[in-house]
Amino acid sequence: MTDTLKPAPPRPDMVNDAGYRSYTIGGFTFSRDEYFATIEWPTGSHQIAVDQFLRSMQRDVAWGFFYGIVNFDSVFGTMNHYGNVDMFAGRFNEAYRKAEVDYNENFPHDEILGVFKAILADWTNAGYDPFAAPMETGSPYGRNHGSNDAAVERRRVVAQRMVGVPGDEERRSDESGFPINRQFLDVDQSEPEVRPEPGYEGEVAAFNLFAYLSRSDVTWNPSVVSACKESLYCPTTEEFILPVIHGNDRVEWFVQLSDEIQWDVEDRDTGRKRARVVMKAGDVAAMPADIRHQGYSPKRSMLLVWENNSGAIPELIATGQAPVHPVEF
Ligand code: PHB
Ligand code: FE
Repeated sequence: MTDTLKPAPPRPDMVNDAGYRSYTIGGFTFSRDEYFATIEWPTGSHQIAVDQFLRSMQRDVAWGFFYGIVNFDSVFGTMNHYGNVDMFAGRFNEAYRKAEVDYNENFPHDEILGVFKAILADWTNAGYDPFAAPMETGSPYGRNHGSNDAAVERRRVVAQRMVGVPGDEERRSDESGFPINRQFLDVDQSEPEVRPEPGYEGEVAAFNLFAYLSRSDVTWNPSVVSACKESLYCPTTEEFILPVIHGNDRVEWFVQLSDEIQWDVEDRDTGRKRARVVMKAGDVAAMPADIRHQGYSPKRSMLLVWENNSGAIPELIATGQAPVHPVEF
C-alpha cells in the first residue's frame, strides 16, 4: 500500500464539504460523503455504501458489540472480548491475510462505543432510521441534513424475567406507540388469560409473543423477552437483509416462527462458503460456533434466536473443551 492511503491526521473541529465530521480512533479514520463511508487504516482503505454502514453501526452500538464478531461486510468489523473490543480490517478475509494488508487494534469497550455513537449520531440524517426496513424509512444519502436521535438512541428491550411480568418489560400496544406492522395485520392480538392462586400474582405470567412481535418497529434486532439463568429468548422481526455478517463465538439456535429466511453460512475465519439454509415457518436450526452468517427475509418474518449468555462459552469453545455443534447425528 502506498503512503497516500495512510489516515489523514485527526481534524475533530472540521466538517467536510458534505457537512460531516471525520473520526479517528487508534489507527482507524472514518469519514463519510453523500453516498459512502470511508474507512482508512495504516495498510489500506475501504468504502461501504452509507446505508449498509449505518445499519451495521446501529446494531453494533445497540448490541454492545454482540456475541463474537460483527462484520460490517467482508472486510471491516469488530470482535467482542467483553470489556474490550477488537476493530479490524481484512482480518477475516483470506485474500487480505495472504496479502498481509489486514489490520487489527484493540480498544476499551467504552472508548470504541463512544466513537461509534458519535459517528452514528452525526452521520444519520433526519427521516432515516437505520433499524427500519428500507420500505419503512427515508433515504440516508446526501449532504448532512438534521439527525434522528430518537431512532439511533432507541432503548433495547432486555427483560430481566419475561415481558409482561409486573415491573419488567411491558407488552406493546397502540397506546404505547407500537401499532401492528403492515405485514402482520392478520396476527391474532388476544392475550392469554392468567389466573394465579392468591399470593402468586407476581410469579405467574403469560403473554402473546406473536402479538408482541407483530408490533415491533425494528428489523434484525434480537431483544431479550425472557431469561432463565443464562438462557435468553431473543426473538426479532426481519425484513430485507441482516446488515451484519455475524461471526459466532457460541452456538445459536434459530426457530423460524413465521414466513421464510434464507441464510448464507460461511467459514467464520476465511469467508469460504459453507451452506445455504432456507428456513420456513416451523423450521429449527442450530448455527455452529465456528461460522458466520447473513440472513435474507423477502417478507417481514418472525425469528426466535435462542442464546446461551454464559461468559465461559467462548473460552470453552476456543480451547476445544466444548464442541462447535450442539448435537452429533
Ligand atoms: C445472528 O447473527 O444470529 C442474528 C442477528 C440478528 C438477527 C437475527 C440473527 O436479527
Ligand atoms: Fe449469529
